[in-house]
Amino acid sequence: MTEKKKIGRNQKDTNDDMINLVDNLNRDDDLKYNRRAFLKSAVGASVALGIATLPFSLKAMLGAEEKAVADSNRVKIADLADVPKGSSVTFHYPTEEDGALLVHSKEGKLAAYNNACTHLKCPVFYEEKKDILLCPCHKGSFDIGTGHPISGPPQRELPLIELEVEAGVVYAVGRKYRHG
Ligand code: FES
Repeated sequence: MTEKKKIGRNQKDTNDDMINLVDNLNRDDDLKYNRRAFLKSAVGASVALGIATLPFSLKAMLGAEEKAVADSNRVKIADLADVPKGSSVTFHYPTEEDGALLVHSKEGKLAAYNNACTHLKCPVFYEEKKDILLCPCHKGSFDIGTGHPISGPPQRELPLIELEVEAGVVYAVGRKYRHG
């Protein structure tokens, strides 16, 4: 009888132990899963935040890049010796899509302009005999010293490219739109 009771108690204790063990395991699992869930959501939030701020970061980087390019946009056009008086050379400025013309006038003045006619974008050229910039499409012409239209359909002047000459080399260093 006593033995039976003892066995019964032992069995109950074992059951209780098992229940406690399962509870502890469940609790451990809960903690583990909660930790995992927390880590997952923390990582997810970091990634989401990173992605969300990416455009701003890129914009800031690109902005700095654009500013740097704009600030140091000094481009060699030609050696002055290769552009004698009464001649011209074509180049691109400020980008490869922007055609331009450097003219060394008969009087010895240097001037440069983007060469897309302000009428319908035909490329103007240096007409040496008249010392003007001439557009072949509708015979528009521009003053070589100012870029102002002087005849034909164009109403606006050509964008002026600022120049510097250093050690016999002509550089483009900036561009000005002078409308009106
Ligand atoms: S495109 Fe130059 S005059 Fe018309």
